[in-house]
Amino acid sequence: MIPAVIISKKRDGGKLSEAEIRYMVSHYAKGDLPDYQMAALAMAIFIRGMDSQEISQLTDAMIATGNCLRRVSERPRVDKHSTGGLGDKTSLILGPMLACCELDVPMISGRGLGITGGTLDKLEAIPGFRCDLSPSESETQLSKIGCFITGATETLVPADKKLYTLRDVTGTVPSVALITASIMSKKIAETLDALVLDVKWGSGAFLETVPKAQELAKSLCANGKRAGIHTKALLSDMNQPLGRMVGNACEVDESIEVMQGKGPVEVWELTRELSAHVLVGVGKAADMSEARATLQGHLDSGRVFERFEQMVAHQGGDLRAARPRGQSTAIRADRSGWLTRIDGQKLGQSVIAMGGGRTQAGQRIDPSVGLVMHTRLGEPVHPGDTLVEVLCDDRNKVELARELLVESMSIDDQKPQQFALWQEFDPEA
Ligand code: URA
Repeated sequence: MIPAVIISKKRDGGKLSEAEIRYMVSHYAKGDLPDYQMAALAMAIFIRGMDSQEISQLTDAMIATGNCLRRVSERPRVDKHSTGGLGDKTSLILGPMLACCELDVPMISGRGLGITGGTLDKLEAIPGFRCDLSPSESETQLSKIGCFITGATETLVPADKKLYTLRDVTGTVPSVALITASIMSKKIAETLDALVLDVKWGSGAFLETVPKAQELAKSLCANGKRAGIHTKALLSDMNQPLGRMVGNACEVDESIEVMQGKGPVEVWELTRELSAHVLVGVGKAADMSEARATLQGHLDSGRVFERFEQMVAHQGGDLRAARPRGQSTAIRADRSGWLTRIDGQKLGQSVIAMGGGRTQAGQRIDPSVGLVMHTRLGEPVHPGDTLVEVLCDDRNKVELARELLVESMSIDDQKPQQFALWQEFDPEA
């Protein structure tokens, strides 16, 4: 087969065959197809899209580049995945919490993608934490403590490992086809019984509108069902960051606060809701209210944080070692009114500009930088109030971030429309 012919076919709006998809994906994973050809194909898919059959074939082709994980116990295997947002730290809490419910949570996560943060980058802000567990290390950890969070590897969906990195720096992230294949290849390779998907919509998500998020949720759920996984999706509002912290080390700090029963209530409530759907999905709770009560009990007893400490220790992390935090600079309101708009794209770009995300594949990131959101949408502000605190030691970068942040927020006289933090997604609707 000739890669340029396959790329041109998709560029012109054609439907790719299973053999063509497999050819491109398998050669890319092996290193026989250069980045520039895969980037061209990703851009053609981004522009032209794929139908559901092509998306399933792309997902399967990606899974086939590695091995699937094995069951290590009789416990049901579950996970959640988010489509990407700002301040989205729910995985750090949800993995250990579901492990407290006698479930196995083999979580394969990603790094920062586009303007959104990545669970692996956050966890690596903990000194010593390893996100490159071998299959046998992850199996041992899973049988001992019921959860791990690691990255795609050379043996576990290697195609996603490479393609994810490539999409991050080639403007090819916000595609229903590519997001579905990326997420579902990892989740199917985890050999799951149940999966909950947090499909984000809004200015800080890849897909800005509810209809687009519904299209993605539908594609993800169809793919889960096809693989025999009980799959549920929530659509959650990403018109502002989740919680107060946006960054890497500072999001670990906030997750720990939540696990200790403190921290922003919305972070806890969304995490609990996502986890409750999993409990109901595998029959560990008769209904959502029983599930929420069980989860609340694990949090209140301190068991969730204990399990998190065990997971971190198993993966080489030292929670007692200081996590880096940049110097704080306040960005203040210059008028009174209501905070009516937060442009998530610009907010995310401000973190990248300070080195908290990547502009080139493989770049090292600075875990110390971040933002502390002091005001939420719809809250009143007065001149001199801190809207957001910038965490960064480099004055030049702070100024770059300040420009983006000032542009990203609006204060007006009218209180804005408020959205529910999440809504359920009905795949049949
Ligand atoms: N999360 C993923 O794993 N992949 C995507 O493409 C988007 C979010």
